[in-house]
Amino acid sequence: MRTGLAWGNAARALGGSAAALLGFLALAPAARAQDAALLARGKHLVEVTGACGNCHTPLGPQGPLPGMALAGGTVFDEPPFRAVAPNITPDPETGVGRWTDAELGRAIREGLRPDGSLIGPPMPMALYRGLSDRDLAAIVAFLRTVPPVRHPLERSVYRISLPPAYGPPVGSVPEPADTAVARGEYLANAVAHCMECHTPMLPTGQNDRGRLGAGGMEFRGPWGVSVARNLTPHAHGLGGWTDAQIVTAITRGVSADGRPLMPPMAFGAYAGMTREELSDLVAYLRSLPPQP
Ligand code: HEC
Ligand code: HEC
Repeated sequence: MRTGLAWGNAARALGGSAAALLGFLALAPAARAQDAALLARGKHLVEVTGACGNCHTPLGPQGPLPGMALAGGTVFDEPPFRAVAPNITPDPETGVGRWTDAELGRAIREGLRPDGSLIGPPMPMALYRGLSDRDLAAIVAFLRTVPPVRHPLERSVYRISLPPAYGPPVGSVPEPADTAVARGEYLANAVAHCMECHTPMLPTGQNDRGRLGAGGMEFRGPWGVSVARNLTPHAHGLGGWTDAQIVTAITRGVSADGRPLMPPMAFGAYAGMTREELSDLVAYLRSLPPQP
């Protein structure tokens, strides 16, 4: 199944010319190995660190609905909007099956659909602009391989006006620098959008980046109200926490005092983070300016 898709993509990329296709056949084993690595990276980004399913997979009383991975339907009912997470499986009618790789990439990183309309909140558009070219390609490649689900949905309604765009075309984004803090910063912002939830919101609807990680945003749901906590090294934040306590909160949803944490943080997905990713996150959180 995966091999078939990889071949289809490669053949498309080669423009379908017979000569090019013959050239590709000679290269196939190496190309396939590369494709497998890209798909594995994409699966990790979508299912673990990016936790796209936290919004795009509908929830039942027992957790994510079986057979509905990434098929959409979760409703975010807030004063400024009633947003419905769309179906991002490859179903051609009700999902993104008809979009090209470039169109899907542009939707994820720039918030623009193929028809030119803008994707609204709570899709974390401001932060996804920072996704590296490699990771964006991996996410797109993986989304092509998830089972298509037919799931027609109502459209989102925004009572606020969306900006004409989230910024100029992104162009190209390199990988983060190879240090723990830089990798952790990339993970906490562009990929896992920790900082979107854990940074106070300005009246304009944008995060107050001057108070990065200070917490305070409220989330209402069937669980009641949860308040994003202060993640900075201040005494009101994670100042007194050990690295192991921070990791337990992220991956198991248990606070330093043993209290189980409430949704909507994607603990279940984050449980699959690698040890390196977790130590990068801790290094980054420890590097934030302390905020009261
Ligand atoms: C916090 C919730 C949230 C997260 C996390 C999230 N999304 Fe979304 N996404 C949404 C909502 C809501 C919309 C629709 C907004 C609208 O209707 O304008 C959307 C729209 C989209 C669209 C446009 C689809 C269409 O048919 O219009 C794509 C593609 C997409 N998301 C992909 C992703 C991927 C890939 C990830 C993970 C890397 C992700 N999203 C993470 C909430 C989220
Ligand atoms: C969708 C919003 C959201 C996202 C994304 C999110 N969090 Fe959270 N987080 C919360 C909320 C809300 C709480 C508080 C829950 C409670 O008090 O029951 C929390 C709690 C925590 C705690 C426990 C703090 C304490 O004092 O108990 C830590 C640590 C944490 N988050 C780190 C992270 C990291 C690191 C990431 C990214 C990998 C992340 N969060 C992503 C919303 C989010």
